[in-house]
Parts: sequence; structure tokens; C-alpha cells
Amino acid sequence: MGSLTVRNLSEDVKKRLRLLAAANGRSMEEEIRLLLAAGAAEAPVAAQANARPAKPVPSEAAASQILLIIGGGIAAYKSLDLIRRLRERAIAVRVVMTRAAQQFVTPMSVGAIAGERAFTELFDPASELDVGHIRLARDNDLIVVAPATADLMAKMANGHADDLASAVLLATDSQVLLAPAMNPRMWGNTATQRNLARLTADGIVTVGPNAGEMAESGEAGAGRMAEPLEIVAAVEALLAPQAKPLAGKRIVITAGPTHEAIDPVRYIANRSSGKQGYAIARAAAAAGAAVTLVSGPVALPAPSGVTTVQVESARDMLRAVEAALPVDVGVFAAAVADWRVAQAGEQKLKKDGSGPPKLALTENPDILATVAKLKAKRPTLVIGFAAETEKVIEHAKAKLKRKGCDWIVANDVSAEGGAMGGDDNAVHLITASGVESWPTQTKDGVARQLAARIGGFFSRA
Ligand code: C5P
Repeated sequence: MGSLTVRNLSEDVKKRLRLLAAANGRSMEEEIRLLLAAGAAEAPVAAQANARPAKPVPSEAAASQILLIIGGGIAAYKSLDLIRRLRERAIAVRVVMTRAAQQFVTPMSVGAIAGERAFTELFDPASELDVGHIRLARDNDLIVVAPATADLMAKMANGHADDLASAVLLATDSQVLLAPAMNPRMWGNTATQRNLARLTADGIVTVGPNAGEMAESGEAGAGRMAEPLEIVAAVEALLAPQAKPLAGKRIVITAGPTHEAIDPVRYIANRSSGKQGYAIARAAAAAGAAVTLVSGPVALPAPSGVTTVQVESARDMLRAVEAALPVDVGVFAAAVADWRVAQAGEQKLKKDGSGPPKLALTENPDILATVAKLKAKRPTLVIGFAAETEKVIEHAKAKLKRKGCDWIVANDVSAEGGAMGGDDNAVHLITASGVESWPTQTKDGVARQLAARIGGFFSRA
């Protein structure tokens, strides 16, 4: 049914359909869908000349319609699974493939899984008659680009339109979700990061890339396309009717480690990835908050719709947090270094034969405690994190008191927990009224639950 195209009809029927579609201001495909839908419902098929153009019925009565653009990368094979996963959830998928994508997967296999043919050409008279690139750009609830290659991102960032994929992306006003996938050096290249920043500023959202092994042997780092189920989760979040429980609220969030200089080239740091703090920033922004994310050095893309301030040291982080006040909520997820070198070398310390240098340490400011104890400008809700390796709840409760915050999100960061640097987290929320132990879930899941909980706090206040 999804594979029915105008080309399969007789010339006579096509002619009548063309006239009918023109009279109703619809495309032929739309006209056929409406006729079929009306026929199936045993309603009289009465096309009315001069009727208002109707919004097309999404194909196969699916809840939502996605346009998936497959770029040319080895990760394209995962896009087949992505199509299957989306269709399992009653999300209809129409596919555009770039020329390079067809080097990795064929339009035939994509068409078979999507249930309708894949579109590949900008100048294809049959396609233009059937749907056309403008209709491809418009008739969807969301456009997903997976894999989004460095080249496709560069074309998008610069508004190119020399093939079907880029023309559709330029012509659309739908939300666009990118799942970037490329070699880690291409991802890290200044040009790609510049394009990413431009796309993010344009309101385009991303999922991934993840870090790990690359297809090329010996290559590893950030650049693997997000797994199909991660992309599905991002799609579902974007398609869900947007509740905005944090609309009108200002939130400052700290994330990542801090780097404390020993000399101009060496520093003290820790293993924090920043993933949990970044996830909270994304969830809070999605919930409608105005978010300032103060981030230590991490290898994560700046979340879209969030003001991100990059810092190095604990003292820089404190300054940036203070500059973001007043806010309604402070979430302190950063793994701030407790100590810094009292006197960092102005020049690189030399091995001069007199043995290792003696590094005197001094305490860093406690950002959470400083903000929690402010008289003026204290946020209404101050939330700390407690990463513990033993007696998690007991230690976290003590920390809540000591630091003067309102809530503590406590998690087990012992090696067995896998939270440090991993994608999942099992946390306990400690408040004045008790302890809630949340199920193990992704860091995005924890972030969404926390954003919802903060929303609940203000709605009850
Ligand atoms: O004392 P500990 O590092 O375990 O406390 C964790 C909580 O305190 C986290 O919320 C962390 O972001 C915050 N913290 C801070 N400044 C520091 C140390 C910790 O904001 N210097």
C-alpha cells in the first residue's frame, strides 16, 4: 500500500486524478490518499472544486510521519534498524538517500523496510509529479538525518541545495534532528565544530555522536552514530506534546570536571564526563527553563537552546555561576576539584635533577556551599550531587546538611556502578522529607525525572 505511486496507474486515471488534484489544490498523491481513505470509510467521494487545500493524511494512518535522510557513512547500515524501530512504534518513515548513502545501503533494501520507495534524485520528473522536494520537506512532523555526515552538516550550515537531501533540508520548516557519525578527527575538526555550533544556533538538535571504536581499525573516539534506540528516544521526545513545567524559570547548572593548573601544560583533573549535567541542561531547556550551563572541560557538544559558558578551573566556575545569578534553581552536578596547586608555575616545571617538585595544595572554593549559603540571590532551590563509593545515602544526607542545599542527588560511583563516564545512572533523591530511590535509567532519564520533579516543586510552592 505504501508503495503505491502515481506511475503505476493508467494514463486515463492519471489524467483524471491530475484534474481533480488541481481543482482541489492538492498533490496527486494526497488526492489518492484521501480518495482511498474516504472509500475505505464508505463515505461518498465527492471532490469539490475550489475546496480548501487539505493537510495530507499521514501515510498508513500512522501517528506521526518522519522524513529520514540517510547520509553516506558506514553507520548507514544502522538506519535500516532505525526505520524498523520507528515503524514498530507506528511512526511512518519516508526516506531520502544521498548519493553517497547508496554506496552503503541500497534504495531497494531501504524501500522494503520503510514500506515505500526511497527518494534519491532532485531532478526526477516522476518524484516531482508524485511528491516533489517541497512536499518531502513539508509533509512530516520531524526530519531525522542519520547518519549526518560532516559533509551534510557543512552543506546544511551553509544553506546548500544541490541534491535532494540538502534541498529538502533548506526548504523545510520542520524540526530537524541530526545523528552525526564520522571519524573522530573529522568530528573534532574546527570546521565541523563550527558547523555544529551554527546548526545548534539555528535550532537543530543532535543525538550523539557516542565515543567508542570506529569502523577503521585502531581509530577510536567521539564519532560513532547514536544507537537506533537512542535515536528513537530522541524522536519520541521531540514528537511528544511538549509539557513545559519549567517555563519562566531560570536555572544554572554546573557540569564536568575542573582543571587546576600545575603549570601552563599540566593540570589536576578527574574522570567526570559531564554527561549527567549536560543531560540535565537539555531536559531543563526542553521543559521550558532558561538554562545557563557552566561547563568544565568535556568532550560533549553544547546543548541547543542553552547558554553554555566554558570554564577551566573551580574559581572560574564559581565566577561564572555568580555571574548567572539570580536564578530560581541551581543544580551543581560538576565534579569540582577539591584542591588546586597553591602556586601554579608560570613556566613549565623542569626536570632539573633535584627530584620531583613539591606541590603545595590549597582548597578550592565550594561552589555549591557558597551559593547555598548566600543571603541575597540564593536560588529558591539549590540541588547538589553526591558521588559516593560507600554508604551512599548516609554520606549524602550528611552532605545535604553540611553544604546547606535543599536536595541532593546521590549516586554510587564505585567501579561496579559504572556511572562515572557511563550512560546509565542509579540515583537517590534526598530531600527534607525523605529519600527516593529512582530506578537505574539513562542519564537522560534521570535528567527528565529531575526536571519533572523540579517542576512539581514549583507547582506546589
Ligand atoms: O564534597 P563533594 O565534592 O562530594 O560534594 C559534591 C557536591 O558539591 C556536588 O554537587 C558538587 O558539584 C559540589 N561541589 C562544588 N564545589 C566544590 C566541590 C563540590 O560545587 N568545590
